[in-house]
Amino acid sequence: MKKRVCKTKKEVSICKSYKIAVIPGDGTGPEVIREGVKVLDAVSKRMGFKLDYTYYDFGGERYLRTGETLPDSAIEELKKFNAIYLGAIGHPDVKPGILEKGILLRLRFELDQYVNLRPVKLYPGVDCPLKDKKPEDIDFVVVRENTEGLYTGSGGFLKKGTADEVAIQVSINTRKGVERCIRYAFEYCKKRNKKKKLTLCGKTNVLTFAFDLWERTFYEVAKEYPDITTDYAHVDAITMWFVKNPEWFDVIVTDNMFGDIITDLGAMIQGGMGIAAGGNINPEGVSMFEPIGGSAPKYTGKNVINPLAAICAGGMMLEYLGEETASKLIERAVIEVTSKHLKSLAAGKMGYSTTEVGDLVAKYVSELPLEG
Ligand code: IPM
Ligand code: MN
Repeated sequence: MKKRVCKTKKEVSICKSYKIAVIPGDGTGPEVIREGVKVLDAVSKRMGFKLDYTYYDFGGERYLRTGETLPDSAIEELKKFNAIYLGAIGHPDVKPGILEKGILLRLRFELDQYVNLRPVKLYPGVDCPLKDKKPEDIDFVVVRENTEGLYTGSGGFLKKGTADEVAIQVSINTRKGVERCIRYAFEYCKKRNKKKKLTLCGKTNVLTFAFDLWERTFYEVAKEYPDITTDYAHVDAITMWFVKNPEWFDVIVTDNMFGDIITDLGAMIQGGMGIAAGGNINPEGVSMFEPIGGSAPKYTGKNVINPLAAICAGGMMLEYLGEETASKLIERAVIEVTSKHLKSLAAGKMGYSTTEVGDLVAKYVSELPLEG
């Protein structure tokens, strides 16, 4: 973070400046990122800090044009930023896996963003598919391990294409990787200061090696956090409880694959992909913030996609940068929009265009009274 002279309306003051790498990416990514940047600009202007954006064209179009997913220089270059703001990766003309592995997962791995932080929060005015559940019932955060498990690409084929073919895909769980993720979850739960309950989500009854390590580490680290209630749930059971008793949860920690799966369910109970945001966090390095929904090719260019997930990801980015008031302001503005304006969070059904939703949030960000 650099300090520089910053001009607001009436005064010239020293203000903070953050360097943000923006990767709009594929499909509807650029549309939602545009609204996200609109809101970030409104909030930074109001709060008196500066965001310096550098845009990168990584994604499907570039790959189809050049055959390159990420240039080798990209990782080192991205390390120079305070944060990365990502739209979506995934192109209908590119075979599944190439862009995901070559861009998204590579960034997560090489920047060692070992936590994928995914809040699940039902905002006022948002239609919840669960009967009788209110905003106070759905407010938890999933801490998903983001660099290990089934995602490392470890494994291979034997006798591929023959009747004797063997395919092996190994889940890698290291003490170091598991422990740092669990520690992050305990710290996060403590700082969040709500129910102060951390649930380990695993499958100790079947995955008796991987989740034995997770369980032992979890209860060892728990001893350092006597104020936090610990709990355990099998991954299959947790999907049931997300639907039946989401109010039980505060913070959940889990491995990469289970975290991937349960956060899609989480997104649905908070009203859909239109609002679900996430952060790929390296607490000691560069973190990357993204709407978790994907590139939604069928809505591309139509100005109908919901930009709130990208806007909320921008809010998470500001919180991570230490601009907590600004982040809170974005959340409050989003709540104004969900509770007073949008008919639905679904693409094409909001009653507003993508641009109009961005305009609305930006307007509230500029006009809402600041909380004492
Ligand atoms: C996500 C996505 C990615 C994942 C895909 C696109 C590789 O589903 O961010 O949840 O599995 O992590
Ligand atoms: Mn996913």
